[in-house]
Amino acid sequence: MSATGRREVPRFGHGSRVPGWDEAVDLTKGPATIPDPATTPVPPGLRERIAQAMLKYPDRRSAAIPALHAAQEEHGWCSPEAIDQVAAVMQLTPAYLTSVATFYDMFKTLPMGRHDVYVCTNISCSLRGADEVFDAMREAAEDDADINVRSFECLGACDIAPMASVDGEYIGPLSTEDAPQIVEDLRAGRTVLEHKQLRYRRCADPGVGEETGDFSPPDRGSTEMADTAGLGPEGDNVDRPGPTAAIEVPAEEAEEESSEGESSEDEKGDS
Ligand code: FES
Repeated sequence: MSATGRREVPRFGHGSRVPGWDEAVDLTKGPATIPDPATTPVPPGLRERIAQAMLKYPDRRSAAIPALHAAQEEHGWCSPEAIDQVAAVMQLTPAYLTSVATFYDMFKTLPMGRHDVYVCTNISCSLRGADEVFDAMREAAEDDADINVRSFECLGACDIAPMASVDGEYIGPLSTEDAPQIVEDLRAGRTVLEHKQLRYRRCADPGVGEETGDFSPPDRGSTEMADTAGLGPEGDNVDRPGPTAAIEVPAEEAEEESSEGESSEDEKGDS
């Protein structure tokens, strides 16, 4: 209780009632300024990508996310230098861009491995062994600071559960035995587990790799592999069976629909 009899509100060291997760603002600093393009060198390729992104939107701030992605690819993370470069090209304050980069968790605001392995551990994947895959992946990459393994919420590819996004490529269904191979492929700079990549599944794109010839199809002799790649044992493109149950429609609705259909048929006949 204070001297006035009011209950004191408990506060954290930085003065707020909530713990927060960002560093507190330093109020002694001067106001943020936009870096001077004349004194902020920006790699030409990065400048071009940011400029192209800005052209797509009426308000240049809308290009903040693609611009930060481009800078992250260039620098490996959203370092202060990377943020300054984006700010100089976009003519925004570094504080604005930092607020975007710290909000979205696919931006790295601390230096970490260049390769990102996001193992989905959400419901569909966890029911099919994602936790074991995640543990195996962490174990396989534990000595490699260049490989950043983390668990992730649903990545929207539940049909290939358990799956992972490896540097943005969706790969699945994974087993624990795939973990060392993923690490090996990343280290060697090879395409990672190409027979399990979503982009190479023929059920998704029957003509995949035909034009460029840069994809060698998986071993068609292997039934297991063929199945996971959406191919039949002979390498033919098979459609995966969809839901077999009929969609249930309440009886009254079904009746209404059928009488509507009949009356429109009658109208057609009359005309
Ligand atoms: S639950 Fe893993 S992709 Fe949806």
